[in-house]
Amino acid sequence: MNEIQIAIDGPASAGKSTIAKILANDLKYVYVDTGAMYRAITVAVLRSGIAPEDESSVSALVPSLEISFAPGEPVQKVFLNQKEITQEIRSIEVTANVSEISSYAAVRDLMTQLQRKIANNGGVVMDGRDIGTTVLPKAEVKIFLIASVHERALRRYKENQAKGMTESLAEIEAAVQKRDYLDSTRLISPLKKASDAIEVDTTGLSISEVVKIIKQIINEKH
Ligand code: C5P
Repeated sequence: MNEIQIAIDGPASAGKSTIAKILANDLKYVYVDTGAMYRAITVAVLRSGIAPEDESSVSALVPSLEISFAPGEPVQKVFLNQKEITQEIRSIEVTANVSEISSYAAVRDLMTQLQRKIANNGGVVMDGRDIGTTVLPKAEVKIFLIASVHERALRRYKENQAKGMTESLAEIEAAVQKRDYLDSTRLISPLKKASDAIEVDTTGLSISEVVKIIKQIINEKH
């Protein structure tokens, strides 16, 4: 099989990164977590003391930032200006501010350029919100992963508990809904199913069942 581009989009906590990572591993493709990039920018903004709603200062800061990745278990390592921020990008504060910062044109332009550059090198599984619509519109396989808000919040709640984070299920559910709203109503590259994407509803399905469905889709297309 020729190396192809696989785009996996969908709302918060739909299981995109878990699934994308397994697929990339099995196919020996590069995995790109674009949400981690937007989270890294958010870490930089919060650390700099710039208010997240100050678009012009955020836009001026972004070109000076260097974001990089390295393999790691159970998650990829993320670096900001060569310093590791893998844990920090998942903090409640970063999660609460990332959607606002991701809505800015300067941020999106730069991230889109970087993501296309990485994808140019061949087989890639990229997950995010606008991969099938904007970043890789010619991706051979486009998946739109969804699940009910309650199930997505519950998955995140269990993950957080394992990490010792104390947010309640209701707080997580509200945060997930707010992020979905902001991500799907922003002006530039909103969260949206590409017209040629295949929707997969993961509510009630196990990770291996979802992987199986997506592999079938990949095989049918190739
Ligand atoms: O995927 P994850 O939940 O880590 O993404 C964090 C946030 O980054 C999203 O809520 C969204 O605001 C932003 N994002 C984006 N475009 C992408 C990936 C993530 O705007 N391609």
